Amino acid sequence: MKSKLTPISEEFELPCGVFIKNRIAKAAMTERLANRKQQVTEQLCSLYKHWSSNGAGLLITGNIMVDARYKEASANLVLENESSISLFKKMVKNGTHNNTQLWAQINHAGRQSSIFSTFKPIAPSAVQLKKLMLFAKPKAMSILEINEVEDRFVRTAFLAKQAGFTGVQVHAAHGYLLSQFLSPKTNQRNDAYGGCIENRARLLLDIVSRLRKELGKEYPISVKLNSADFQKGGFNEEDALFVVKKLEEVKIDLLEISGGTYENIVFLTERYKKGSTKKREAYFLEFAKKIRKETKIPIMVTGGFRSLNFCNKVLENQELDIIGFARPFLMHEDFPKSFIENKEVRVNDAAFDFKIKQMKDFAEAGFYDYQIHRLAKNKRLNLNYNPYLAVLRLTMNECLKGWL
Ligand SMILES: Cc1cc2nc3c(=O)[nH]c(=O)nc-3n(C[C@H](O)[C@H](O)[C@H](O)COP(=O)(O)O)c2cc1C
Repeated sequence: MKSKLTPISEEFELPCGVFIKNRIAKAAMTERLANRKQQVTEQLCSLYKHWSSNGAGLLITGNIMVDARYKEASANLVLENESSISLFKKMVKNGTHNNTQLWAQINHAGRQSSIFSTFKPIAPSAVQLKKLMLFAKPKAMSILEINEVEDRFVRTAFLAKQAGFTGVQVHAAHGYLLSQFLSPKTNQRNDAYGGCIENRARLLLDIVSRLRKELGKEYPISVKLNSADFQKGGFNEEDALFVVKKLEEVKIDLLEISGGTYENIVFLTERYKKGSTKKREAYFLEFAKKIRKETKIPIMVTGGFRSLNFCNKVLENQELDIIGFARPFLMHEDFPKSFIENKEVRVNDAAFDFKIKQMKDFAEAGFYDYQIHRLAKNKRLNLNYNPYLAVLRLTMNECLKGWL
């Protein structure tokens, strides 16, 4: 007799007609593994082979940049022209093995492009990100530059489809360029792209509606959106609700909910704040419940999901459709296989003692970056890695790959 599937193992049909074989997605994690030409390397191919073999229904790549001048990290992948496609094809072949969906997350860092990438970033307005002196003051974009960014997102998505990616995700969260446009704190324009939320959302909505036209009705398109920036005067839940309704009109297949920016990095740190564990297990779920009532777009929530029972419960209650995991993929080599099979598995984050408060998120990024690089070299994870070394390693790599 066939055993009954638990909700997390059930397939899911997207509005475009594509099926995801289960409800587990690897959320985007920047790999910082591109070569000096920002192209795919053997290590990236091997990393995606590893992940596609491990049972997730959907893998979303780390952010692939639409413009090499404004990267999120020095060793980001960039997809700007046809010459990179052949290398991407191998990564895609590996990442789609085992009936896995592999979607390209496409991004422009705007003012969150650090000095390792550029001393002249661009942004909706000249509002500088003040963090560890790592970000230069951006130049406010001209209309021509805004139009160019729109074209670049469309081109990169088109090239991603050509390379064989089975879907794309537009990164409009975490304080990168599209999220800068959405937020009144970083968008102080008084033209058609600033002011009311309709104007602030214009660039994102124009991009997504063009993507739907270019990529066709049957191609999965996703958007990663903040529920809020968690900053006074920033993008808030009301704004987010407006954007979600508009995204429904342009027909997207999956809305991923997250939150925060480099100034308040809640998408990584919210778990460590005080509060009931249950509530903290999925810190953007409350907002997802609100938008569930307002939209039919399938919803993916990412951030803090760690126990199988809880995941099955929220799926059973139809609070969301797909569960996004990031760090759990770096805490167990065989995640999510072991997670689905063993009901007792809890995939807690690494707990490390790091005393410099201002750099805690940097230490965390460095620690997980190191784990990604180990997996890419077919090595086992090293969860005892020293967080101070992690900061040093990350900074050195950014300098070497960015400046030398
Ligand atoms: C090492 C690392 C890199 C990340 N890179 C990205 C990225 O490129 N794009 C993105 O949207 N989110 C990125 N994130 C955020 C994750 O996708 C996710 O939203 C966050 O880690 C919360 O999920 P978790 O609690 O399951 O880790 C990254 C997170 C980590 C730990």
